[in-house]
Amino acid sequence: GAPLRVGMIGIGTVGIGTWRVLQRNQTAIAGRAGRAIEILAVAARNLTRAAQLLGDAPGVALTSDPLQLATRPDIDVLVEVAGGTGPAREWVLAAIAHGKHVVTANKALLAEHGNEIFAAAHQRGVAVAYEGAVAVSIPIVKALREGLAANQVEWVADIVNGTTNFILTRMREAGLGFDEALAEAQALGYAEADPSFDVDGIDAAHKTALLAANAFGMPVRFSQAHVEGIRALQAVDVACAERLGYRVKLLGIARLQDAGVQLRVHPALVPADHLLAAVNGAMNGVLVKGDASGITMHYGAGAGSETTASAVIADLIDMARQTLDGRRPCVPGLAFHPHAQVDRPV
Ligand code: HSE
Repeated sequence: GAPLRVGMIGIGTVGIGTWRVLQRNQTAIAGRAGRAIEILAVAARNLTRAAQLLGDAPGVALTSDPLQLATRPDIDVLVEVAGGTGPAREWVLAAIAHGKHVVTANKALLAEHGNEIFAAAHQRGVAVAYEGAVAVSIPIVKALREGLAANQVEWVADIVNGTTNFILTRMREAGLGFDEALAEAQALGYAEADPSFDVDGIDAAHKTALLAANAFGMPVRFSQAHVEGIRALQAVDVACAERLGYRVKLLGIARLQDAGVQLRVHPALVPADHLLAAVNGAMNGVLVKGDASGITMHYGAGAGSETTASAVIADLIDMARQTLDGRRPCVPGLAFHPHAQVDRPV
């Protein structure tokens, strides 16, 4: 088939990983997708740096105007990996209005504007995919929509922020203070541009709200989640917990109750022999309890460049297959569950 033509906004940690993995594995990717996946254009703030990062890529047009990619007629899919919410919302909505599919790893964007974006995409008949926005390399969105699709999910319990999990692990294993451990996470490229999103639990709540939307077929209810981060924790808290047989973890929980789905993110004491206690460093873990499947555990890298690219490209392959020969993609609707309300914990 004809190549899937991609425009990518952003060439930061995720963008460069996406570029590299697409180049390295292009034959296998084309085989699996049924056609080639080509990055036609990249929008970046710093064009000199972008040109350096892309190296010898004569076919790729560089622009400093992201909206140009969202509207170019020769682009099939917009990949948004720039981050941020206000401008990203405009680019994505413009791309949808121009009949383009969207792949994004931007959890903040979807937590805040996902309902509007999904509705616009549904109306226009285009797909919005975001496997890289939730638990990075773990194919959890696909697991909830496909492998676990037969279930009534009862609850999801997750560790979905690599930075805080790394900090808590370093505090426990090396006795580091909070600030020191955060500096290490930043140096390794795990933290958000504004690390308060990580340490205050906001990033985990973004992702948990997206998980709940998929698990329970409900709108994205990030604004109604109860959110508490790890800023107040000290090394001594972590050490005391350990002496008592527990690990301190920043957990995200989405649980179906009579009154609705409860959404919360907060530090919790997890018994040291629990599956989630084994999720250390910048790794992520998601436990899903389905009425038929029972508990499944999903584990993998929770932050990083090529780890996120793995998910972004999986979405591109999915789209390339689904739209082969001009077919319309199957747009997974969020079937609205009667329990779509959020039951706020007190
Ligand atoms: N800052 C995020 C984290 C990056 O630490 O999990 C991956 O979404």
